[in-house]
Amino acid sequence: MWWRDAVLYQVYVRSFADANGDGHGDLPGVRSKLDYLEWLGIEALWLNPVHPSPDADWGYDVADFTGVHPDFGTIDDLDALVADAGARGIRILLDLVPNHTSDRHPWFADPTKRDWYVWADEPNNWESTFGGSAWTRHPEVGRYYLHNFLPEQPDLNWWNDGVRSAFEEILRFWFDRGIAGFRVDVAHALVKDRLLRDNPVAGRAADRREERVYNMNRPEVHDVYRRWRELAREYDPERVYLGETWVGDPHELVKYYGDDDELHLAMNFPFVQAELAADELRPILERWESVLPKTAWPVWCGSNHDLVRFPTRWCAGDEAKIRCALLILLTIRGTPILYYGDEVGMEQVEIPEDEQLDRAHSRDGCRTPMPWTREPDGEWWLRWGDTTRNVEDMRADPTSILHLCRDLIVLRRELRGGYAPLDAPRGVWAWRRGDSGVVAVNLSDRAAKVRGVDGTIRIDTARGREGEAVAGAVELEPWQGVVVLPQ
Ligand code: NOJ
Repeated sequence: MWWRDAVLYQVYVRSFADANGDGHGDLPGVRSKLDYLEWLGIEALWLNPVHPSPDADWGYDVADFTGVHPDFGTIDDLDALVADAGARGIRILLDLVPNHTSDRHPWFADPTKRDWYVWADEPNNWESTFGGSAWTRHPEVGRYYLHNFLPEQPDLNWWNDGVRSAFEEILRFWFDRGIAGFRVDVAHALVKDRLLRDNPVAGRAADRREERVYNMNRPEVHDVYRRWRELAREYDPERVYLGETWVGDPHELVKYYGDDDELHLAMNFPFVQAELAADELRPILERWESVLPKTAWPVWCGSNHDLVRFPTRWCAGDEAKIRCALLILLTIRGTPILYYGDEVGMEQVEIPEDEQLDRAHSRDGCRTPMPWTREPDGEWWLRWGDTTRNVEDMRADPTSILHLCRDLIVLRRELRGGYAPLDAPRGVWAWRRGDSGVVAVNLSDRAAKVRGVDGTIRIDTARGREGEAVAGAVELEPWQGVVVLPQ
């Protein structure tokens, strides 16, 4: 499957590249950067939602699942992007939002489709992910509708066959246009308890997600994905579903792969939320590796449009740490997703309160314009962050983070085997990829030595030791990582 070897690249279209100079990114803008993405070695783009939306939740409140938001261009622009990208071996994945619609979606206004949403005479105790009750009274209907997110995002009723068929049509609509697959928004939450039972009350559990028993991760959601998988198979076995699966327990999370008949990839968020530390990331990865069946393939990322960017969250801006994080993401077994800007170490941006646009809790700081050049290119919908780390300068510098990232993307194709940990001193994480190579990364402030390594350093995060022979052990400076190949 192509997506096992590929690096996916997440494009927040509104902030990526602006072809018409109106201060926000668009589809022709993405198209204009295909040369760059091809040069970087990217084989698929996941576009954040591109559909018409009142933007209460920046595109995640969809008003028309088969249209294109006028801010981003037209459906012809999307077709042209799919075609041009395809000619370069780059596939396009869309972001499917099946859990809810915009309250302006015609379905929500249609009295014949009341059953397509979730209603109650009185709210139960479910809370919205964005805070407060998950129920709002609809003045005309006189009942409460469910919204796991903003009140402008009413949840769909996945017990309704009309909803199921409508989404099958949406999948077909895009598959027919050459879309390679979908990132499925809140994939774990589509189906709610049919009886709308109250969630168990907190007790001692400090983590609210622990209590979310009846409004997410219901067993019946798996029927939906089995059906979707069949539908994808009618096209070709190459179409892919990537689930946004916020499920902490690996035994529950793995169920989203089904018996190789549900989602192809399920995101592991405990990994993203852990610290950049060997004793945090390593056990999460190993637990996941031990739970995944042979047919299932992991997917990893460090940043996305909801979380603080990893160069800030994991690395506090420290360049050596950013290099180590990229080394890990691009060499562990699985499909990596780079969020736009990760490849140059783009950081989270502090957004002053009076400029914040995100209504949920401010995620604006991870959605700022892509730093293509050192000189910010005009006024954009969100302010620019520091552009010292930018594509133009880094492309011209072979020692840059960007070149490291590109070289790792080339090298990772040679790392073919399974994951097997190597003994390493505290703070160091080292593993074999079958017989194809060893990765050792020192995530500590002290120099360290990893034994049992022979071969040649092919990539050094500090770029000074490539070509160096290793016999029996490799020494690492603080926050240095290497890939050693046998030859
Ligand atoms: C998850 C998306 O990643 C996030 O941006 C959005 O706000 C919610 N789902 C609701 O769609």
